[in-house]
Amino acid sequence: VIVRREDYRPPDWLVPEIALDFDLGAERTRVRARLKVARNGAHDRPLVLDAEGLTLVEVTVDGEAAEHRLEDERLTITVSTAAAVVETLVEIGPRANTQLMGLYESGGILCTQCEAEGFRRITPFPDRPDVLSRFTVCMAADKAVYPVLLSNGDPVGAGDLDGGRHWAEWRDPFPKPCYLFALVAGDLVANRDSFVTASGRTVDLGIWVREPDLSKTAHAMAALKASMKWDEETYGREYDLAVFNIVAVSDFNFGAMENKGLNIFNSRYILADAETATDADFDAVAGVVAHEYFHNWSGNRITCRDWFQLSLKEGFTVFRDQQFSADMGSRAVKRIEDVRVLRAAQFPEDGGPLAHPVRPESYIEISNFYTATVYNKGAELIRMMHTILGPERFRAGTDLYFSRHDGEAATCEDFVRAMEEGGGIDLSRFRLWYSQAGTPRIRAALASDDNGAATLTLSQQVPATPGQTEKQPMPIPLKVALFGADSGTKLEERLVMLEEERAEIAFSGLLERPVLSINRDFSAPVVVEAGRDLADLAFLSAHDDNAFARYEAMQQLMLDTLLRAVSGGPADHEPVIAAVRETLANPALDHAFIAEAVLLPSESFVGDHLAVVDPDAIRAAREALRVALGSALEGQWRAAYSATAANRFEYSPAAKGARRLRSVALGYLLGAGAEDAAKLAMRQFEDADNMTDRQGALTALVNSGAAERNTALAGFYDRYRRDPLVLDKWFTVQALSTRDDALEAVEALARHPDFTLSNPNRMRALVGAFAANQRAFHDVSGRGYRFLADMILAVDRLNPQTAARLVPPLGRWRRFDEGRAALMRAELERIVAAPGLSKDVFEQASKSLG
Ligand code: ARG
Ligand code: ZN
Repeated sequence: VIVRREDYRPPDWLVPEIALDFDLGAERTRVRARLKVARNGAHDRPLVLDAEGLTLVEVTVDGEAAEHRLEDERLTITVSTAAAVVETLVEIGPRANTQLMGLYESGGILCTQCEAEGFRRITPFPDRPDVLSRFTVCMAADKAVYPVLLSNGDPVGAGDLDGGRHWAEWRDPFPKPCYLFALVAGDLVANRDSFVTASGRTVDLGIWVREPDLSKTAHAMAALKASMKWDEETYGREYDLAVFNIVAVSDFNFGAMENKGLNIFNSRYILADAETATDADFDAVAGVVAHEYFHNWSGNRITCRDWFQLSLKEGFTVFRDQQFSADMGSRAVKRIEDVRVLRAAQFPEDGGPLAHPVRPESYIEISNFYTATVYNKGAELIRMMHTILGPERFRAGTDLYFSRHDGEAATCEDFVRAMEEGGGIDLSRFRLWYSQAGTPRIRAALASDDNGAATLTLSQQVPATPGQTEKQPMPIPLKVALFGADSGTKLEERLVMLEEERAEIAFSGLLERPVLSINRDFSAPVVVEAGRDLADLAFLSAHDDNAFARYEAMQQLMLDTLLRAVSGGPADHEPVIAAVRETLANPALDHAFIAEAVLLPSESFVGDHLAVVDPDAIRAAREALRVALGSALEGQWRAAYSATAANRFEYSPAAKGARRLRSVALGYLLGAGAEDAAKLAMRQFEDADNMTDRQGALTALVNSGAAERNTALAGFYDRYRRDPLVLDKWFTVQALSTRDDALEAVEALARHPDFTLSNPNRMRALVGAFAANQRAFHDVSGRGYRFLADMILAVDRLNPQTAARLVPPLGRWRRFDEGRAALMRAELERIVAAPGLSKDVFEQASKSLG
């Protein structure tokens, strides 16, 4: 069944109140629900409730047995009055729930995941985000196994029952859609703290984990408090309940979930300490804690009318968490990281068979639309509005949005209109960004004369995407600057709005030859071809005063060098070596920035710029450049390596930057075959007092042929075999290995006793990472494709969402040579033909075939 945006109709029945009664058990849970239903408008249609995988025990309407029918995951009940109380009793089996949607068991804890359509697996209900209800939740359970009982809102009662059981009741005063419902029952302990809001209310905070993990919750708690403060200061948003709880569980389909007052997290985004988490993990914990907290306003107080509006909450909330992280750390490095993610995940999606607009038009399974386009490109749309409006008018727009739509289920259109009215600007054409898929391509050419005049000619083209062959030009905000080629100083800077297909922008009074810096800060999510030569790129990498643009110039310089080598041109490494040398020696740059700037573009990024991806040629070209950089600058890498040696772990931007540069330098030293490099790496591996240094050394060794390699892998395994999140890293490091034996190693790891299909983190750690290893996955034999398809089919029987998320790498077949493309298609066809396939995987695989 295809669901279409244009088919939206308001609900026939509303449910202003729901009271839930849970008799909890892992094998069997009984759920009694009392719904106050109210007819919405004049009609005589029955009450239709979604119901999936439920054993229905009884249905009453106003206390009487009622006529009903359960068919095709819908429970239809005849209700003859305009309002009624509908009561249902169902049974579910949390332990048998391997999909991890609805109520399920994770490590002995009972927990829920309802977004997008999991609530219907708990109780019959109109499972759509525009039905908002006041929830009361009563839970009863064995007190020894489930001493802690949590739900949304505030606790209102608790007590003991016979037979070693107990109960607790929670009430959420804010009407909410059912996808925000949550409950948790388990043997948990809390890191407790409190936060006093701007208006002086005290909020009790709790981060609930299993007892041995308690010591790893301090960072998440600090991030939560910082987020609460930041949202008050930046958006004027205050928390609205007396309690805010977070629970960490180890089996979770994605990152985390913003359930009202009771966020539930994948443990990898809560637990962090120096011994087990890298700096990137620490950053991700803070970013996701902030993201889920920010949803309280952008998502919960104002929710989505229907799932086509998903980016209304996700795009905006990602933008908010990006701003938060930028404010807490290095703005430039954060922007570099965000753009890297966008280019690695969203650009390929936008250019492939699964491309869809930020506000999609149709879906078979909504879970497949929690995508980089909806999240990350969606965030770029908000960022562009921020750039166009400026911070004050943007804030006026969000203020209007929050006050106008508080308590409502809103649309992306509502958001844009609030921006227009609050910001005082016309965004009519900007709406194209919500409806047109595809990454716009910009051509930019700067021509200057001897009289100080210059013309910047811009043109844009939006590529065709599935279902959208004709495109209109988009309004594209481009931050542009000109630098003097002789002095290295900035001559001009402005925000250019490219509104039409073509534009010419005139500059005058330039006293020297101008060099173009464009899409500074990555002001628009587009591809720019500016045709600058290697010398101009090297110049910008040394002189641009916009950190992002400076990084970008270096990346473009490296990319152009690699592309030339891949297409068989002469490998001239000199310009890159000279630019890296200068960057390493520049005392004005901090370690974190240098590390980002001198890192080579990934193999897949290089592939994205080729008409036909040649994984082996790309690997060879990139290795050659790495070796050349490593040997030519060995002295500087050594200096950088020793200058960044730390005595004791500290989590500060400066210390993080030092560790990052240290890993990069070690990688180059090993790549260049420096004689003592493997020993340096092994010493770092053994002496490290933090996971960043230890994992950095392990990664460098795993990619090398050094004898120390196996010692380090075995040592890592022995040390961390009992810590699932760290063991995930052990799998990932090997799955991403650049060595020739990576494919065999991954096949063997899939038979390792610690590998399991049932834990999404472990699946992604091995199989997800492997599919991102361009050379190994695209092994010309097709074995990598077969391995992935086998895994998809095996996981699909347990967990369709996790399986579906592994399909897109196979959908990139159009980008490869005929032989590989045929092998990839054959695997997709095998998947589509498999009996009992989920609609999740069916949608992704059939669309991927095109
Ligand atoms: N709303 C959650 C978040 O981004 C993610 C929910 C994902 N749900 C899904 N079915 N994939 O914070
Ligand atoms: Zn979100």
